[in-house]
Formats: sequence, C-alpha cells, structure tokens
Amino acid sequence: MPVITEIEDLKRIYRRRVPKMFYDYCESGSWTEQTFRENTSDFDKLYLRQRVAIDMADRTTKSQMIGQDVSMPVALAPVGLTGMQHFDGEIKAARAAEKFGVPFTLSTMSICSIEDVAENTSKPFWMQVYTLKDDDFMQRLFDRAKDAKCSAAVITVDLQIMGQRHRDLKNGLSAPPKLTPQSIANMMTKVQWGLGMLQTKRRFFGNIVGHAKGVADPASLSSWTSQAFDQSLNWDRIREFRKMWDGPLIIKGIIDPRDALEACNVGADAIVVSNHGGRQLDGALSAIRALPAIMDAVGDKIEVHLDSGIRSGQDVLKAIALGAKGTYIGRAFVYGLGAMGEAGVTRALEVIHKEMDLSMAFCGHRDITTVNSDILMIPKDFPGEWL
Ligand code: GLV
Repeated sequence: MPVITEIEDLKRIYRRRVPKMFYDYCESGSWTEQTFRENTSDFDKLYLRQRVAIDMADRTTKSQMIGQDVSMPVALAPVGLTGMQHFDGEIKAARAAEKFGVPFTLSTMSICSIEDVAENTSKPFWMQVYTLKDDDFMQRLFDRAKDAKCSAAVITVDLQIMGQRHRDLKNGLSAPPKLTPQSIANMMTKVQWGLGMLQTKRRFFGNIVGHAKGVADPASLSSWTSQAFDQSLNWDRIREFRKMWDGPLIIKGIIDPRDALEACNVGADAIVVSNHGGRQLDGALSAIRALPAIMDAVGDKIEVHLDSGIRSGQDVLKAIALGAKGTYIGRAFVYGLGAMGEAGVTRALEVIHKEMDLSMAFCGHRDITTVNSDILMIPKDFPGEWL
C-alpha cells in the first residue's frame, strides 16, 4: 500500500487507474475553467493565524449539520456517475462515510440506485434531487428517498441546463462507456477498473433507467439533462417540491446573496454555497469568495454550508471560520474511490480530518464548533467591492 499523506497522492493513483473519460468528467470545469481553478486557489488567499502556548489537548471535531451529529463538518457531495469511477462506487463511498460518521449524499445521476445504497448501508444517507419537468418522476423520487429512510433531501438549483465541459463532449461521455477504438484502447490499460466493472450489474443511471419516460438516450448525461430537466424552474416550483418532501431540506447551488434570501423563504433547513465545482457558470465567483456576502445576507436566518474547491482540512477550517456550519467534498473523495475503492474514500476522509484537527490546534482551538474568523487573516479585498 503506498503511503498516502495528502489528497494529491490519491489523485495521482486515481488518474492511473480510471478510464480517461471518467477522470476527465471529474476533473473538468466548464469552458475556460476559470471558476474551477479559483475555487481552489482562492482558499490560498486566506491565511491562518497561528497561536502558541495554548492548551491543545483533548480536541474534538464533532459537530452537527442540519441538527444531525457528524464526526467532522464534512459531507460527501453528490457526484454524478460515481459508480463509473469504481464498481458499485456509491455503495462503497456511502459505507466509508457512515463508518466515519459523516453524511453521504447520493446524486440523482448515480449509477447505484437509491434502493441499492439503502440495502447496502445501515445509516440514513442524504438524497440529492435534480429538478425535472416530470412531476410523477419527481414525486416518485421523493417517495423512494422516503422509503429508503433518507434523512435529508438536497435540491440542486443551479443545473437547469448544463455548463459545457469540453472534454466530456470530446470523449463522448456516457454510462456505460460507448465502445469506440479510443475508449477500448484506454480501458484496456485500466485492468483493475475493468475487472471490477465485470463483477457488477450496476452500470447504468440506476435512478433513471426504468423510472423516467421520454429520454432518447438514457446513457448520455448531456442528452438526459437537455431533455428532462426543467429549464423554467423558479422559486414557486421549488416550493412545490418542498410540499413533496416533508423531511429536512437543503438547497444547493447558491452563489448570490439575493438567491440565498429567496432560498430562506422556501422553508429549507440549510443552503449550500456552491458553484457546482466550477462546472456550470464559468466566470462566476469562487464559492469561498462568495461566502462572506451570503453570510452577511442570511447567516442569522439559515444554516449555511459550503461546497466547491475543498481539497484539504485547512480549506474546511477556513470555510468554518467564515461561518459555514458544514462543508462538502466531491472530487477529493472521488480521487480516493477511483484509487482504492472504499478504503480510498476512508483515506481521503482521514487525511482531511487530520489536517483540519491539527490546523485547528495550531490556531489555538480545541473544538471545531468554537472556531470563528479570528483564526483568519482575510485580505481587505477578499469579499470584493464590485461596481
Ligand atoms: C452534474 O451531475 C455534473 O456533471 O456536474
């Protein structure tokens, strides 16, 4: 077993083991990828203040997200096609999350279905919901999540249409992968991945195939979204979804304070500041840079979480210091999954936990719930003054 000390180690192994089509899917932002890059580089602009001669013993990273206990304020984000990164990937990631004591969020666009994940785990997970035109499909999706005992629904509001990721088009991304001379040549070099895939029947969009009507090519994410997703989505429609689901509700994909205020009015329990990992509007502000203005607008009204750009425990600490009650990792856990399956996701969580715990101690805190912006040196222009 190689020595894994940072998320980048997992990424290197992941890149070697998983077909290019799925590595590229994970590692892409939309268009020029400016927002994708700045999601991570903007974390580097925030400095941590080291304190010394302060008791560092008996530390805890335990916290709560939407009132649910978490061993650290880091959930696994919903990531489409996770079961293409490693066979039965959603089940493996959900198992790692439940053992670690953090929430797992299953994407609507997963390979393993809601029922598959529920049958193969023992703790409730969160269900991410895309907003489709088909009311029957939506009601059934919420009902299926309820039957599976999901403990929250996470409605994504920033993907009515899909941002263009060049490499997905060039690679002909699909699940299962279409067999072309290039894809076959590449998959032949990914022996472990291929042997895993041969062991499972879960190779299609498990929540969709057999559940949704009128989609010409259910293997293609882009044709799926362009045909089935509701381009006319508005806040009244989101209120209708609120009525379809009576459990805890999280609204994901907020990057502007005005939308954060709207989200407060639909009866959500939390919002997620996110630009979809830089995969939607290229040129939008990074999530960490958008966070302060959103905290000012709604921080006293609703629980705020942050997604997009987190690759380390220091990043988590910075987001918490700016007021987020919880954070999400997407790519960081996918690297682990593609590298080593469930053990790799566990390793990603361990790496992030250790980084967060030790950095918190260096900043003079022993309890993650007491961390605040005093631990940060924030450049004056970080939140931005815009014309
Ligand atoms: C959505 O599932 C995406 O690919 O970003």
